[in-house]
Amino acid sequence: MSARTSDVLVVGGGIIGLVTAWRAAQRGLVTAVVDPEPGGGAARVAAGMLAAVTELHHGEQTLLGLNVESARRYPEFAAELSDLTGQDLGYRRSGTLAVALDADDRAHLRELHALQQQSGLTSQWLSGRECRRLEPMLAPGVRGGLRVDGDHQIDPRRLAGALVAACERAGVVFHRRWAERLSVRGGRADGVVTDDGTALEAGQVVLAGGSLSGRLAGVPRELLPPVRPVKGQVLRLTVPPRYAPFLSRTVRAVVRGSDVYLVPRENGELVVGATSEELGWDTTVTAGGVYELLRDAHELIPGISELPLTETRAGLRPASPDNAPLLGPSGLDGLLLATGHHRNGVLLTPVTGDVLAHVLTTGELPDLARPFTPRRFGAAALSEQPA
Ligand code: GLY
Repeated sequence: MSARTSDVLVVGGGIIGLVTAWRAAQRGLVTAVVDPEPGGGAARVAAGMLAAVTELHHGEQTLLGLNVESARRYPEFAAELSDLTGQDLGYRRSGTLAVALDADDRAHLRELHALQQQSGLTSQWLSGRECRRLEPMLAPGVRGGLRVDGDHQIDPRRLAGALVAACERAGVVFHRRWAERLSVRGGRADGVVTDDGTALEAGQVVLAGGSLSGRLAGVPRELLPPVRPVKGQVLRLTVPPRYAPFLSRTVRAVVRGSDVYLVPRENGELVVGATSEELGWDTTVTAGGVYELLRDAHELIPGISELPLTETRAGLRPASPDNAPLLGPSGLDGLLLATGHHRNGVLLTPVTGDVLAHVLTTGELPDLARPFTPRRFGAAALSEQPA
């Protein structure tokens, strides 16, 4: 087999593509990844909340099952990856506190609490005073909150770096180019052609291109994944040692209808996110985006105005029409999808790797992934894609 031929070729070296490649290589499949910058993508921007419970939304019950299952797999997944690579992933089981700043927010949180309880999830209602006892930096006006000890965090940049290292150790070959076109022969996907004209052949191709997944030339139009970019602007602040511990867990709220969250890392980084904007492939960091995030975060935690602002970035969530991922056979022989993870890419990384490895080796979607078959989207959904 030449270096340009593999059993599995993964298009996209973000965390979803990398975990797919790592798990495939562990199962003995000769695997390659095509991406100009493996370990890049939306994970460079993401805060890394593993928030199956606090990010529960009405109408997303099916997705909840997958999210909860991936959260359940996280401790073992993180330990395996960390032991294998010797890298610290910043995996922190310090929990989350979702708070309300006014009566409307409190009503909204009460509804979320009821939905969590109906769904069998664990969360605890706290008064404003109890919230401040837990997190003394909270604004005095906090009206109440939900304590969710099971919603953890990981550092997505470290996760991506460790996945690159794990892939290398498992023998995954990296082609540091853009995939320009899917190659289809005899009604079957059999590789890609890169932007320098190189033909990479493979028994199976996995399209894991994040928000770009719907744009790969050569994929039959009716089978292009209906994935669109949803921009998120995210800030990084630094907590000087003299202020530590600033926050002991993730703190979040909905302020004026927008989500804001503050994710404190053990190394002093404090991630503040995120906007949610439908602006195509624009990744400009705007004054308005930074202003709104800082304004809302400051209402929650007034002390942030003392902290150095060390980074501003925007990334693109790959959103699908029902906010759930597309996993498994695409409808074209030889082409599988692992995309559309929207707000849950970091959370869904362990289960996505396991599901794709299963499909690649057996041809079948495991039961837990059946609701996420790309085939659930018919022609109507596909025709609503942005041009
Ligand atoms: N899951 C957090 C976000 O997408 O902003």
